[in-house]
Amino acid sequence: RRRVLVTGAASGIGAALVTQLRDDCEVLALDRTPLDPAPGVEPLHCDLAEPAQVAAVVGELRGRVDAVAHVAGVPGTAPAPTVLAVNVLAPLQLIGGLLPELPSDGSVVTVASIAAHRSAAPVEVVDELLACTDPAGIAAWLGRHPHTGPEAYDVSKKALVRWTLLTAVRHLAGVRLNSVSPGPVETPILADFRASMGEADIERAAGAVGRHGHPEEVAAAVAFLLDPRASWIRGLDLPLDGGLTALRAAAAA
Ligand code: NAI
Repeated sequence: RRRVLVTGAASGIGAALVTQLRDDCEVLALDRTPLDPAPGVEPLHCDLAEPAQVAAVVGELRGRVDAVAHVAGVPGTAPAPTVLAVNVLAPLQLIGGLLPELPSDGSVVTVASIAAHRSAAPVEVVDELLACTDPAGIAAWLGRHPHTGPEAYDVSKKALVRWTLLTAVRHLAGVRLNSVSPGPVETPILADFRASMGEADIERAAGAVGRHGHPEEVAAAVAFLLDPRASWIRGLDLPLDGGLTALRAAAAA
């Protein structure tokens, strides 16, 4: 059985993914919220905002996993240093640490957001963010490029999509990396998005495509990308938004 690490496993999309994977895989379910063990599920307690805790998980899991889904994320209602630590620094440290010992048919999926495309940060600024290796680096980056609230969230997801793409092209002969970018999905984080981005923006998205997504719909796509059957899909950022991106592209054409 393949061993799959899922972060953000206690709630929403991550919890739905654990449910979909656990019959066929051994799931390592990581969250800062304690999880109960279940058949096929080994809970891992870790606060991804703490680099020392992430390093400990890397040490424990190196060579023991076949695939990683980084689902955990924090919204723009959290302080910007926390948003950038959990949404950017943690996946770079966690996945970067595990990558050298993932098998050649291994797979990594990061959960970004359609918010990635909202960030106005130029690519050089995003690359500067991706060069940060610790919270002090993040604090210095924020000093040079102030981002707060939803702007911090948007740039964090833009950076995550870019890192996934750049890392995917460095591993074309081995581990596959892809990201997914959901539109609004009915999970607890949506209340935070309503608070930080404004109710109207979120509801406009549902109005355009008929409804918000369900966590199971995002989890199913992530599960497929993790699976060796997705072997020809590399370096893709897959929008999972009920057609919102398609609508915008059609309107722009
Ligand atoms: P959620 O709030 O239900 O789940 C997030 C999970 O991440 C929680 O279990 C939480 O404990 C965990 N987490 C947060 N900070 C952590 C930390 N420091 N250490 C360890 N675990 C931590 O939200 P949802 O919707 O399942 O979010 C999953 C991902 O999907 C996030 O990355 C989010 O940004 C992204 N997303 C969600 C959308 C939505 O509308 N629900 C839309 C676009 C992207």
